[in-house]
Amino acid sequence: MAVARLPRESFEVLKLLAARGAREAPVFLSSRELGEVLGVSQQAASQYLIALTEKGYLERVLGGRKQGLKLTASGTQVLRKELHELRTIVEGAQPFDLEGTVVSGLGEGKYYLSIPGYVSQFRRSLGYEPFPGTLNVRLAPAEASRLENVGAIQGVRIEGFQDQGRTFGGATCYPSLLNGTTCHLIVPDRTHYTDVAEFIAPVELRKVLGLHDEDRVRIGIGKGAPPAVPTKRGR
Ligand code: CDP
Repeated sequence: MAVARLPRESFEVLKLLAARGAREAPVFLSSRELGEVLGVSQQAASQYLIALTEKGYLERVLGGRKQGLKLTASGTQVLRKELHELRTIVEGAQPFDLEGTVVSGLGEGKYYLSIPGYVSQFRRSLGYEPFPGTLNVRLAPAEASRLENVGAIQGVRIEGFQDQGRTFGGATCYPSLLNGTTCHLIVPDRTHYTDVAEFIAPVELRKVLGLHDEDRVRIGIGKGAPPAVPTKRGR
């Protein structure tokens, strides 16, 4: 779920409501009052509320003569995204945490992670030879959309190459911790939006951490060992 950028005024409405507690409980505010706080007409304030409700960022709750306004999970996500962007601009890339469940893939990871053209680059750039495979972690939609922020984190480049007429694509690896164990999130260059994040590690994560399908795991992206060979290119 990609979070769209909002017009500045609508964003200010979300911020104002959240500051008054609308993430937890409905805030009772008329469009006239909202207009006064924002310094716009009642009609304009009402339009912002309609637009935010239509986009699914706000819920209106009926309560007497005033309307109750509550932020939805997507509304909160808009604020989080802005917070993350500002922190990145002011303080540099921030590590972030995700949660997901272990799932099985099609066994392709084992194939790719055994190709010498990749293995030598992993050894050189990550400082280890990965266990042949990727541990797949399925993320909830809101968590998966946070992965869009990964480009701000310093990653390690694995370049694409040709071998016997075949083209193998590049990828970027981001230092991570999975249940506290050092690993890398690997994002192929030619990736499409997905709710599955893939991790490589020097060890067999399932074995070391005792993981099975559907187990929940905590992931820290941008945490753990710093990249051996930094790169500016992101996802
Ligand atoms: O695609 P699929 O998840 O079926 O498998 P794979 O990528 O070929 O990896 C082989 C197996 O090793 C899978 O069960 C992965 O979850 C697991 N694995 C692991 O435990 N630790 C790693 N560092 C990499 C893969």
